[in-house]
Amino acid sequence: MNEDKKITGFSKLSKTEKIHWLAQNFLYNNPIAVAKDFASFWHDNIEEQKLFDGFSENTITNFYLPFGIAPNFSINGKMYAVPMVTEESSVVAAAANAAKFWLDRGGFKAKVLNTVKIGQVHFNYFGDSKKLKSAFPIIKNDLINGCKDLTANMEKRGGGILEIELLDMTDKLENYFQLRCSFETCDSMGANFINSVLERFGQLLVELIASNDLFTYQEKDVKVIMCILSNFTPDCVVRASVECPVKDLGIIDGMPAQEFAEKFVQAVKIAVVDPYRATTHNKGIMNGIDSVVIATGNDFRAIESCAHTYASRNGSYSSLSDACIEDGIFKFWIEIPLALGTVGGLTALHPLAKKSMELLGMPSASELMMITATVGLAQNFGAVKALTTSGIQQGHMKMHLSNIMMSLQASEEELQKAKEFFKDKAISFNAAREFLTNLRNRAFSIS
Ligand code: MEV
Repeated sequence: MNEDKKITGFSKLSKTEKIHWLAQNFLYNNPIAVAKDFASFWHDNIEEQKLFDGFSENTITNFYLPFGIAPNFSINGKMYAVPMVTEESSVVAAAANAAKFWLDRGGFKAKVLNTVKIGQVHFNYFGDSKKLKSAFPIIKNDLINGCKDLTANMEKRGGGILEIELLDMTDKLENYFQLRCSFETCDSMGANFINSVLERFGQLLVELIASNDLFTYQEKDVKVIMCILSNFTPDCVVRASVECPVKDLGIIDGMPAQEFAEKFVQAVKIAVVDPYRATTHNKGIMNGIDSVVIATGNDFRAIESCAHTYASRNGSYSSLSDACIEDGIFKFWIEIPLALGTVGGLTALHPLAKKSMELLGMPSASELMMITATVGLAQNFGAVKALTTSGIQQGHMKMHLSNIMMSLQASEEELQKAKEFFKDKAISFNAAREFLTNLRNRAFSIS
């Protein structure tokens, strides 16, 4: 094995030392220029930079993503300008367009259906399961009482431990039992609170069984495998919806309202029945959801993994949204679990997450769930509307053209000319480059 590039103590090096080591060992071409490039993304303010460095480990610079705004969201009659962080072109534009479209048709409605979070203690018990089940009501009580110091603050805020269930999972895995615990964590996402309580449950469970005379010597040997929250929160669900008479949809990209509504519903139903389409359909929803989740400093990996488990809850991967036409009314809705927090974690630490919260009027976790689900629905509406009318490439390629022109260092005037030229032509990198070369040659020969 080539160990030339092995290093110990990388984490102890300063940022500059880390960059120099990388430049020397991995970026041979121009180490000094490369080091300068990395450093050029440092924050001017040293204290602010220290804050970013503290979020993660072995940091050498900052990775920027665009922070955009989708205005005109009316949710339950309240107006929002929603912050969205995404690298994908057309996402913010599609959300903003859908927000405007529905603003003129009564706006979005949203409702939090429940807010329960789940945690698990996974353990092995090598004995008579009936005995464990019969002792459990007392054990459960002792577990709850043994965590009072951890739960007191959360209880003051209206949350805490809701329930602890003992699950016998031995039909799935030998000697495998589980405490499935449910929590209310109010405005916090609750990961730290839940995990602290679960680890205490794990310790107490071992002690309580060991000190209980009901159990034999062998049965007292309980092995806790792990204690951790579950990111699957099927009882922390929010519903967002829109509806209007079909005729009020108007003519969409030349398509009459009735035809559009029927085609739209059919497209959604395809995502309900076909996992291949459902995956892309839901990806479009997550384009909107993740953007808000990132902008507000929440954990997008948790939200993603939960959404996809939820989408498979009936045994096959399906659409997170649904649509129908009933008595001449077009209805479109989403139900999705969103375990979001508005206090604690990065929400309060990241300067731009704080700004997002301010922009949204310092929402409660429930309000943020409603905003985020609505943006997911709006995003889905924009995507399916485009797919069932003009196709997705038209809008996409317009943005793509801007990106290509930017990468070719085109001026604003050149970009406008390119937009005009490609209005009715296929866009590709080569075609755009050729157009720009010709434009510049022509300008050169005229001057
Ligand atoms: C692209 O990021 C998202 C879409 O593919 C979603 C969809 O197909 O519904 C446009």
